[in-house]
Amino acid sequence: MLNLIVVKDYDEMSLVSANWLADEINKDPSLVLGLATGGTPEGLYANLIKMYKKGSLDFSSIKTFNLDEYVSLPRENESSYYTYMHNHLFDHVNLNPNNIHLMDGNVTNLTIERQRYDQLILDKGGIDIQLLGVGVNGHIGFNEPDSTLKIDVHVTRLAKETISANARYFNSITEVPKFSLTMGIGSILRAKKIILIADGEHKAKAIKDLFRSEVIDPLKPVTFLRLHPDVTVIIDEKAAKEIEL
Ligand code: F6R
Repeated sequence: MLNLIVVKDYDEMSLVSANWLADEINKDPSLVLGLATGGTPEGLYANLIKMYKKGSLDFSSIKTFNLDEYVSLPRENESSYYTYMHNHLFDHVNLNPNNIHLMDGNVTNLTIERQRYDQLILDKGGIDIQLLGVGVNGHIGFNEPDSTLKIDVHVTRLAKETISANARYFNSITEVPKFSLTMGIGSILRAKKIILIADGEHKAKAIKDLFRSEVIDPLKPVTFLRLHPDVTVIIDEKAAKEIEL
């Protein structure tokens, strides 16, 4: 089931989604949150930090699991998702460091790392709320369009479109890692609730696929969200351009 909320622009998307998430945290202060990176959630995280600083939000019992992390990019690199999360959220709120979970793309044995992460999510009781963005090519997490999609945490080769889109975070496109660890489609669909946010005309096609596709299509990974019973989609008018309301 998709619940759609269309707002004016990026700022309104960031505020409405932050309020939505804050309501959920206030209802259950020990939620397990699945978190995303990228340009889309930066404003949402900034709003959560403001709420925390005003005293209206408490992260002390919240647990977090990130969706993905580049392979072989040192954690201290400013474009790693480890650094992104510390800069945009973790260092500014009262999350307990023991409750923060990220994949480690620098271990020698990625198979053990995948299994560790899958097991850890299970051990913590599963993800209550998963925050998602969407790629221009319809990827969720780094589940890139392909003839089949993986269920659990796995290593993925980033699509050309993703490497181009993420080049803005690196000195040059050649520095963008080619591989990433990511939760699989099953890991995402096992979350009890999902919130997807998107803004801008470049996301309109992926949003159209999400709402209008008549099939579940691994070449449009976002369509798999149609199988989930509780997805809230908060997008701006530009991202909603191709769905008739
Ligand atoms: C990030 C992630 C990706 C992004 C997507 C959109 O953790 O899993 O699926 O959500 O690539 O990225 P932005 O927000 O930069 O457009």
